[in-house]
Amino acid sequence: MITIVDDKVMVTDEQGNTQSFGIGTPEAFQIISNVWLRSGWDTKYVYSFSWLGRPVIQLPEDMIRIQELIYELKPDVVIETGIAHGGSLVYYASILNAIGKGRVIGIDIEIRPHNRAAIEEHRLAPMIHLVEGSSIDADVVAQVRSLVVAGEKVLVILDSNHECDHVLAELEAYGQLVTPGSYIVACDGIMQEVVGAPRTSPDWKYNNPQQAVRIFLEQNQEFELVEPDFPFNEGMIMERVTYWPNAYLKKNTSSVEKQWEVGGIFP
Ligand SMILES: C[S@@+](CC[C@H](N)C(=O)[O-])C[C@H]1O[C@@H](n2cnc3c(N)ncnc32)[C@H](O)[C@@H]1O
Repeated sequence: MITIVDDKVMVTDEQGNTQSFGIGTPEAFQIISNVWLRSGWDTKYVYSFSWLGRPVIQLPEDMIRIQELIYELKPDVVIETGIAHGGSLVYYASILNAIGKGRVIGIDIEIRPHNRAAIEEHRLAPMIHLVEGSSIDADVVAQVRSLVVAGEKVLVILDSNHECDHVLAELEAYGQLVTPGSYIVACDGIMQEVVGAPRTSPDWKYNNPQQAVRIFLEQNQEFELVEPDFPFNEGMIMERVTYWPNAYLKKNTSSVEKQWEVGGIFP
């Protein structure tokens, strides 16, 4: 049980032991954040944002944090699986546009006509390439691969089907495209933490992106979990408040860079 009284957060465990934290401590912030994340899940808080006119289904802190990474890496290509309304694609394109280089490839099993039209009419559309099909379909993976030019710096974000087997297959397919020193990000591992909440399933305890990351890391020495540093932090909070726990997989700089055939349909 969690109780907040005046400037104290109290946590009582099942044995009746109570711990008390001042409201201004990182421990209290973490407890409150976890309650806030769960309440946000139940109330569909993340379904209330848009970016430059397109709905984006993300927690704003996750957007800011990945912006920090994109700015640091300055990738040539951001590949995202899971487009939905296109808000995240437009978001990544807008960051690359501000940086002055790069483009975005988005993959979705179904790009609804009104979403496709809105993305294709967007001012940033020249930076966005859409691929329709399952992200783990061999032809789709080959198509995406053909769009990446040898030597380009690639960042991959996985936000499609979040079942363990699917994310694992995506990690295996798109991990090969990630440049050494860059990342593949497995979104929405929060599924593991919200079992029992509305719109969840009991198998989410193990059938989730965090589990896919664990299995992938056991089988793959080229990647490790690396939390990107906060580029600015004059506060006391050192960890992300996130829907993406254990999501950031960095490819070792010692990995051999794969040489793909030159593709490049972008001007
Ligand atoms: C969580 S939404 C993506 C949200 C989006 N990235 C954003 O931030 O606004 C998940 C999307 O994954 C797509 N999807 C589901 N299964 C897929 C698959 N096998 N391959 C590619 N996309 C898939 C769905 O159609 C849906 O649009």
